[in-house]
Amino acid sequence: MTDLDSIVDGATHSFAQAQTPAELENAKALYTGKSGRITELMKGMAALSVEDKKSRGAAINLAKQAIETALNQRREALADQELQAQLKAEALDVSLPGRLRAPGGLHPVSLTMERIEQIFASMGFDVADGPEIETDWHSFTSLNNPPNHPARSMQDTFYVDMKGDDGIAYNLRPHTSPMQVRYAHQHVTKYAEGVKKGKPMPEIRVIAPGRTYRVDSDATHSPMFHQCEGLWLGENISFKDLKVVFTGFCRTFFESDDLALRFRPSFFPFTEPSAEIDIQFQSGPLAGRWLEVAGSGQVHPQVVRNMGLDPEKYIGFAFGMGPDRLTMLRYGVSDLRLFFDGDVRFLSQFQ
Ligand code: PHE
Repeated sequence: MTDLDSIVDGATHSFAQAQTPAELENAKALYTGKSGRITELMKGMAALSVEDKKSRGAAINLAKQAIETALNQRREALADQELQAQLKAEALDVSLPGRLRAPGGLHPVSLTMERIEQIFASMGFDVADGPEIETDWHSFTSLNNPPNHPARSMQDTFYVDMKGDDGIAYNLRPHTSPMQVRYAHQHVTKYAEGVKKGKPMPEIRVIAPGRTYRVDSDATHSPMFHQCEGLWLGENISFKDLKVVFTGFCRTFFESDDLALRFRPSFFPFTEPSAEIDIQFQSGPLAGRWLEVAGSGQVHPQVVRNMGLDPEKYIGFAFGMGPDRLTMLRYGVSDLRLFFDGDVRFLSQFQ
């Protein structure tokens, strides 16, 4: 074995011993570094004759190439080792079941709202939407409830501390009844041209579901709650029609034919006569009790006038019901606040 062979052997061996790239680079320095064995041999050639330089130079170069080949092989091996270690450390267990993503669903009150809209739409009612920040005129005055009238204190209204440029006072609507005059007014305007040309105006038949607000908070009252207004106005609409429509609605909504309805005399400034509507289930957990579900009545002539219509010609009824309460009755929920806490354990039961 020549001196060169044993240097190559020694290099290959110490490269194999290196366990990290840094160790390998240190080992390499001993051979091909600035004062490494091969470099020293090159320097030693200065004293040789031209002939010897040629053959010795060629031999040293071969040895150097052999060392570099060994070095590169070891570099690759170490890099591969490192990659394998990393892959192992970052391994994904693809057999692990995924985290469950529960499907979303509609809130129980939204389910009720949709149900109300569907049932009334099937009876030919339009569905209208209106502002929650309402003018004093629409919430009260137009509904025959003038400023300073004691009937205004029937509801604890949230008044908005703001007057528009027009000096108009606003409130968070305490009921959906302002939609009666708003909608009817739009309807009258829309058909005005036709009426001038002698075409009769179509009947007004609408429901207006939405959010309402009152200063109230306990197990059955929430400062934000829902109402759904109903209005049917024409030339010959009577309390009898209200009874038929509302009875039909309740029986469809609760999927029960043996459901009794009772109209109990009441007072609202915007209806005359007025009635509370109570329902009674004949079977089930609530059987036998009268449950109040809506206020109603024949639209007051002054309100008809405020809609831009002649009360001698137009007559009809309005009602206002509570979708929150209907939801509680339908699903047997005893505390209204559960609807607004946003607890998924409660809400997911309705999916
Ligand atoms: N707006 C009344 C309330 O909130 C309900 C109602 C609506 C009564 C329509 C009669 C007619 O109590």
